Amino acid sequence: MRTSRSSLSSGSSSSPPARSSLRARLAALLTGASAVGALLAGATAAHAADAPLRDLADAKGKVIGTAVTGSKLTGTYGDIAGAEFNSLTPGNAMKWESVEPSRGTYNWAEADRIVEFAEAHGQQVRGHTLVWHSQNPGWLANGTWTADELSQVLDDHIATEVGRYKGRLAAWDVVNEPFNEDGTYRQSLFYNTLGQDYIAQALTAARAADPDAKLYINDYNVEGVNAKSTALYNLVKSLKERGVPIDGVGLQAHLILGQVPATLQQNIQRFADLGVDVAITELDIRMQLPATSAELTQQAEEYKAVVAACVAVSRCTGVTVWGFTDSDSWIPDVFDGYGAATPYDENYAPKPAYGGIVTALGGTTTTPPPTDACSATYSVTSQWNTGFTGQVRISCSGASLSSWKVNWTYGADQRITQSWNANCTQTGTQVSCSNASYNGSVPEGGSVTFGFNASWSGSNPVPAVTLA
Ligand code: XIL
Repeated sequence: MRTSRSSLSSGSSSSPPARSSLRARLAALLTGASAVGALLAGATAAHAADAPLRDLADAKGKVIGTAVTGSKLTGTYGDIAGAEFNSLTPGNAMKWESVEPSRGTYNWAEADRIVEFAEAHGQQVRGHTLVWHSQNPGWLANGTWTADELSQVLDDHIATEVGRYKGRLAAWDVVNEPFNEDGTYRQSLFYNTLGQDYIAQALTAARAADPDAKLYINDYNVEGVNAKSTALYNLVKSLKERGVPIDGVGLQAHLILGQVPATLQQNIQRFADLGVDVAITELDIRMQLPATSAELTQQAEEYKAVVAACVAVSRCTGVTVWGFTDSDSWIPDVFDGYGAATPYDENYAPKPAYGGIVTALGGTTTTPPPTDACSATYSVTSQWNTGFTGQVRISCSGASLSSWKVNWTYGADQRITQSWNANCTQTGTQVSCSNASYNGSVPEGGSVTFGFNASWSGSNPVPAVTLA
């Protein structure tokens, strides 16, 4: 059983030839990927739309962006990032610990790669981020600083990093996450040493280093009207009154399924009415795993609602998703048991959420009715220098199984030594695991898990698994 994605339609005749051929290449790639063995056994994925997201967004004058990992920008990942999005945000590459791991020693390789990729693909770049309490290098975070010293370090950092990319970035998240949930200032190194005017100082330094980049303050849990977003509102209002350069606010939007704030559009509008731009900068919508097809359908509605709220307000510049594929999402690492938060699955198949974005951007897509929906997910639960423990979960939604068999091909020198709750055999790189006598049945809405130990050497890539 495989998901079929054969109905990717060809481009409209009005598209420029370069984009059409890119789309054709992407279509070929996606079809090829499904032939190799997609994760989903059921047809829950949205079909790709007639036009890529970026064309739909361009037509509305909006940004549709994604956070990216620079080292992954090749193959299918690079093709989708380039073809579907008109803006990129480095997920980690421009953070202080990435660019200046030891004092005075800079590493720009990944950040440069992302900026060059964006330029080659006619995309904007959103710089992220200059002043934050997290992901700072040890020398900075653990140093003892007088206010004068830290002030100089901050100015130098901003002059160096913003200066490096002067004229090439559309926007910077200058200050990240300055508030607590109750609207008080977060007790960070910068706040504790410099007071709340570290924010004005950072914005002023960024403007001096690149007068053309739009300067933002970015935070989470500020999507709806609440104490935290009101504190941000009051800060922006006062910065503007003082003549401090501030162009926009970033609403991160790391949302939980079922919790899109009802006041999202109203909140965007109140910032717009202050005279600043608004961007949704880090959208993802997480849910507890395993995801059911009903939850993925609900997620599509919620992606649509968030993008539509931005489309409805002219000063909302656009929406960036925090990783476009579940295989490049921070959620499973940080929120235990949660995932499935992005618009594409681990095998780069568009999920219903992709269709939700398309619809909100005024495009059309067809979501095939769910026929069956059992899927197998492979994960490495622990790994040491010569071995690892793996797990495969078979989950069903809108379908059930009375027996199962899961196959995969290892991409490196991985060898199963022991399994439990399944009968596994390995021949060369081919592994086949079928149910034990007691766990062949997977009910609708339920799941079965089996595990194994294996050896590895060199690398331990995660294989694509097929449910037969
Ligand atoms: C996350 C990255 O995606 C992870 O890879 C990293 O381990 C931690 O940071 N808010 C932000 C982002 O502003 O920079 C964070 O990115 C997610 C929360």
